[in-house]
Amino acid sequence: MVKDRVALQEGRIRPAAVADAGALAAVHVAAWRETYRGLLPDAVLNNLSPERRAIEWADRLGRGDTEMVLVAEDEAGAIVGFGACGPQRPHGLPYGGEFYALHILRQAQRRGFGRRLMRAMSARLAEVGHGTATLWVIRENLAARQFYATLGGRRIADAAAERVESRTGYRLNQVAYAWNKLPLTSDR
Ligand SMILES: CC(C)(COP(=O)(O)OP(=O)(O)OC[C@H]1O[C@@H](n2cnc3c(N)ncnc32)[C@H](O)[C@@H]1OP(=O)(O)O)[C@@H](O)C(=O)NCCC(=O)NCCS
Repeated sequence: MVKDRVALQEGRIRPAAVADAGALAAVHVAAWRETYRGLLPDAVLNNLSPERRAIEWADRLGRGDTEMVLVAEDEAGAIVGFGACGPQRPHGLPYGGEFYALHILRQAQRRGFGRRLMRAMSARLAEVGHGTATLWVIRENLAARQFYATLGGRRIADAAAERVESRTGYRLNQVAYAWNKLPLTSDR
C-alpha cells in the first residue's frame, strides 16, 4: 500500500500527442530489445529502427481514430512507458475492448507505472462503452503474465485464445487474457 501511494506521487500518466512520436519510438525499440531478447530472433531486434518507428507513431497518433495511446512520464518529464488500447481488433475475441500494447522501460519497472497505465486505459475503454477487454501476450513472457494476473486478468481457457503469429522469419506463440469488468478498480 505504502509503495502504491508513493508511486502515485511520482511522474504522471497522460494521453500521447503527435509530438511524442520520437520519444515513443525510442521507448518502443528499447523496450522490445530489453524484453524480447531470446524470445524473438536477434536479427529482428537488431533491425528495429527508431526512425522508422517514429514515422509509424506519428502516423498512428495523427490518425485520430479509435486507438487510445497513453504515456507514462517520470518525475523529470521523460517518457518511460506507454500503453495503447481501443476496440477489439477485427477477427478478435468476443470482448469489447483490447489492450494492444504496454511497455515500460526496464529502468522504470516495478514503480507502479504499468498498473497506472492499465487502470487509465481501462477507464478510457469503459468511458467509450467497453465493459470487457482482452490482450495478447507472448506465452513465454512469464513476468508480464504474472503482472496481468495480479491486475485481475484471467487467461482465457479456449483454443481461440491461443495463436501462433507468423511474421517474417519467426513465429510467436501467444495467449490471451481477459477482464470481464472495466474499469479496473483501485485494488487491482
Ligand atoms: C509487465 C510490465 C508492463 C509491468 O509494469 P511495471 O510498471 O513494471 O509493473 P508495476 O510496478 O505496475 O507492478 C504492479 C504489480 O504487478 C506485479 N508484477 C509486476 N512486474 C512483475 C514481474 N516482473 N514479475 C512478477 N510480478 C510482477 C507485482 O505484483 C507488482 O506489484 P509490486 O511491485 O508491488 O510487487 C513491465 O514490466 C513491462 O513493460 N515489461 C516489459 C514489456 C512487456 O513484457 N510488456 C507486456 C507485453 S504484452
